[in-house]
Amino acid sequence: MTANESNSINAAFVALSKAYTGNLADPYPKYKELREQGVVYQGDLVAELGVPSLVAGRTGDRKVFTFLGADICTKALLDPETFSSKVYEEAFGGVMGDKVVLFMDGEEHRFYRNMMTKIMSPAALKKMYDAHFKPTIRTMVEELAGSKNRGELMADLILDFPLRVIYKLFGLPSDDPKAMDEFNTRALLMVFGGMCDFRKPEEAQQRIANAFKASGEIYEQILAVVKSRRAAGDYQGDDLIAQLIRFDDNGRTLSDEEIAQFLRPTMAAAGETTSRAFANVIALLLERPEMLDEVRNDRSLVRPAIDEAMRFEGSVSVIPRITAKDVEVEGVHIPAGSGVTMLVGAANRDPAVHENPEVYDFHIKRKKQAMSFGMGNHMCMGMFLAKMEMELALNAVLDFMPGVRFDPDAEYEGIRGVQFRSPSAIPVVWDAP
Ligand code: HEM
Repeated sequence: MTANESNSINAAFVALSKAYTGNLADPYPKYKELREQGVVYQGDLVAELGVPSLVAGRTGDRKVFTFLGADICTKALLDPETFSSKVYEEAFGGVMGDKVVLFMDGEEHRFYRNMMTKIMSPAALKKMYDAHFKPTIRTMVEELAGSKNRGELMADLILDFPLRVIYKLFGLPSDDPKAMDEFNTRALLMVFGGMCDFRKPEEAQQRIANAFKASGEIYEQILAVVKSRRAAGDYQGDDLIAQLIRFDDNGRTLSDEEIAQFLRPTMAAAGETTSRAFANVIALLLERPEMLDEVRNDRSLVRPAIDEAMRFEGSVSVIPRITAKDVEVEGVHIPAGSGVTMLVGAANRDPAVHENPEVYDFHIKRKKQAMSFGMGNHMCMGMFLAKMEMELALNAVLDFMPGVRFDPDAEYEGIRGVQFRSPSAIPVVWDAP
């Protein structure tokens, strides 16, 4: 990792994208070919595609299986006693602390999920939507569109808006753009800590050291805000810090440290995932100008365009698990302690479940939900918010950037990646409003 990589959000993002890319720009034909041979692949397909695998273990020698079909991925994700999410704990090696909802199970997991359901209720989010999310996103797009008519949407807009929304959602002070930018860069560096290739030990160690540093700084920043808001009695609002300070479940309240620890990984879960997902929505529409026009002229298609993009090119393509006991899947014996990759990117194009799966078509009424937000007891807690943000952002782009199209003078590489998928840059031009 270069010094530059840890200094700017865009550089950190581009470096992270490179780490995800692997050796196939378009892995779907490979997924199709393998799925036709059998929905359980006996090997670590992610690693074979040249991307550090989350399930291979720190020594890289664990037995690994890859699930390619929708039905087996669904069954596995609905069976957490056999397919455990604890594998994340090892992959992130303490970078985000030990109390992370995604690593939890049993009663502790239920407590945190219930808490999150309460603090991110549709009513609370609706208030934040009107007061903060909508003006934040629309102003960003309007200012960008008015300032020029050529740009690179990842750097100019898409990396930033989900993080600004999270700022508002958490209730962090967002009046210092430099602090916000540093904070956002740190969030990416923290995620980078789980993306190590231990066959390159020096690089891996450097990456982990950077991730720990960034994560510690994020924790301290959040903790300082929580402490000062509690001391000032500033916790009446609908933002998460206010709600968590007020939280009381039959006498069980949260300390400042518990609040900071809870929010730190939530930030990592909410930023990059949404940026990449929205980038895919925009990229798929720009690649198909007639569909972009259709959505522009009929806004009832905004939600279907997003949902279909989440199926066809979800930002999260891989969900890792470790087996807690021996299990038999489709005649394949999987011993306890094996790494299992749910390749949801492949499952989302499984013809056994989705009609005409290799085509992006928002007119098809899909009978089954895509798995890009996961499934079962760890299913994404931010899905409602993420879709809300993407709808806002797409409408704003359509409203304020007339005639938006790829920049004919710049190179567009397309959507790439194995674990996460998105373009790393979207160069565009638009007409003066
Ligand atoms: C398009 C954007 C997003 C995508 C694609 C996405 C994807 C996912 C996926 C696949 C999981 C399940 C992982 C697993 O089972 O191993 C997950 C879990 C989670 N997501 Fe999201 N996410 C997005 C946005 C958000 C946002 C905006 C938030 C928060 C505000 C959020 C918070 C969480 C949390 C807390 C979990 C863990 C839930 C649990 O373990 O019980 N996500 N997300």
